[in-house]
Amino acid sequence: QAASISADRVPDMEKRKLMNLLLLGAISLPTVGMVVPYGAFFVPAGSGGAGGGTYAKDKLGNDIKVEEWLKTHGPNDRTLAQGLRGDPTYLVVEQDKTLATYGINAVCTHLGCVVPWNSAENKFICPCHGSQYNNQGRVVRGPAPLSLALVHADVDDGKVLFDRRGSMVEGIRGLRRRR
Ligand code: FES
Repeated sequence: QAASISADRVPDMEKRKLMNLLLLGAISLPTVGMVVPYGAFFVPAGSGGAGGGTYAKDKLGNDIKVEEWLKTHGPNDRTLAQGLRGDPTYLVVEQDKTLATYGINAVCTHLGCVVPWNSAENKFICPCHGSQYNNQGRVVRGPAPLSLALVHADVDDGKVLFDRRGSMVEGIRGLRRRR
């Protein structure tokens, strides 16, 4: 009899262990998700820039010269360039016809579609599942869980240089939150 009781209990214990493992997995998964993008800040970005950044490239693969760009891109323009690690990244022209100090990564934070700029609506609208981001890439409608990623845009030798300066990007997000 004793033997049969313990035999009954063993699978229960196993089940419980399994449940605990699953629970632990469910709890730790979001943590892993947080750690990975954060760690990505410290991956050295490509070549080219003085500070280890990447020169933005136009659709032909040429470095983008700020002066030339501003001649053909007016206020409130958002045009795709090739950014860090080849990510499609919007260059932003401010109302005062200067280049914004940030670029907006065009990869939707939902499932990764490239999000087009809709100037009539003054928003980025994802064609895949309808997520919307305001003109600075801040998410205003789901299912996207997060705003579009920002990168720092600098001018180096007259050319646009992207780099990831976490504090800068966080600074912009902070400004947005206060608005
Ligand atoms: Fe953009 Fe789903 S991939 S809304």
